[in-house]
Amino acid sequence: MGLSKLGQALTARDIFKLVEADLRRVEEKMGLESISSVDAVTAINRHLQKSGGKRLRPTLVLLSCQLFSEANEASIAMAAVVEMVHAATLVHDDVIDEAQTRRSQPSVNVLFGNQTSVLSGDWLYMQAFQIALRSRNFRVLDLLIGLTQLMVEGELLQLQRLGRLEVSEADYMELIDRKTASLFSVCARLGAMAGGAGEADEAKLGEFAWNLGIAFQLVDDVLDYTSREKVLGKPVGNDLKEGKVTLPLIYALQDATPAERIQVETVLRERNYAKVSFARILEIVTRYRGVERAMERAAIFTERSRTLIHQFPDSPFQRALVSVTDLVTARDH
Ligand code: IPE
Ligand code: IPE
Ligand code: MG
Ligand code: MG
Repeated sequence: MGLSKLGQALTARDIFKLVEADLRRVEEKMGLESISSVDAVTAINRHLQKSGGKRLRPTLVLLSCQLFSEANEASIAMAAVVEMVHAATLVHDDVIDEAQTRRSQPSVNVLFGNQTSVLSGDWLYMQAFQIALRSRNFRVLDLLIGLTQLMVEGELLQLQRLGRLEVSEADYMELIDRKTASLFSVCARLGAMAGGAGEADEAKLGEFAWNLGIAFQLVDDVLDYTSREKVLGKPVGNDLKEGKVTLPLIYALQDATPAERIQVETVLRERNYAKVSFARILEIVTRYRGVERAMERAAIFTERSRTLIHQFPDSPFQRALVSVTDLVTARDH
């Protein structure tokens, strides 16, 4: 773990302590805003809220705001908005991916079925926008609507590329930019806006979070190969089974033999590990240093995000953001 400019690096616990009271307000707000006149929607929202999750995005909003001023109504509201947008994308994503598990629990699609899940996800998106609308700030809406379209387009592009062996690093980077980094960036920007930051600071903080988001997704895709389901809260080896070729595998495929490529192709086609085991795929990824090379790539983005956050004045909140960059790279779930 690296050290911040001044003093010790903060642990996850230290960071949580900094935002704990405000996060509680965010949870309260989400609870109040989750009630629909249709019971299924309320039940799904409850399930989502209770099932945990790291709350990384609302934490980013809160810390970003506090670089410039105290937490306030706007930062609490925006933190709730981004977590609700995130939750809505997960609900839709799990329908699309036919996922069984999310946050160590049966996913919403398993519990409530696809139709109800899709509509509930729609409701949640709109509820998030409704909260955002109350700010009467067009820039907020502009950011959120643009973001949601980017994310949806990302999911569509991913869908079109599903099952393809030939995925370039550039294609992959475009997807993770849309799927993950863009939301991270918006979290920081909304936080900065709530804190009254000027445009230049807002943009710089957005770039910090964008780089952090790319690193976060790269690590997520590495964990899909290296972690265990118990720790991760979702199955391991899942991406390839879902037809997704991510960076550790993209790197390995650059050097793999024709026979090895055929084995990867088999899993992509069959969408299971019956003919070629996950252990075999992991062997291929390991042989060509796919994981290490993807982690090296992640480290470049972490380093960029660290450089950007170091340009802000020292404070507990700035130090927390510095430490978030270490934690994202070192995380196991
Ligand atoms: C899951 O995000 C989706 C990705 C971008 C990989 P998180 O790993 O932040 O999910 P939760 O909210 O902690 O469950
Ligand atoms: C996560 O995408 C959802 C979005 C960020 C839109 P993935 O399908 O790659 O991630 P997991 O593995 O389900 O969390
Ligand atoms: Mg998924
Ligand atoms: Mg997906």
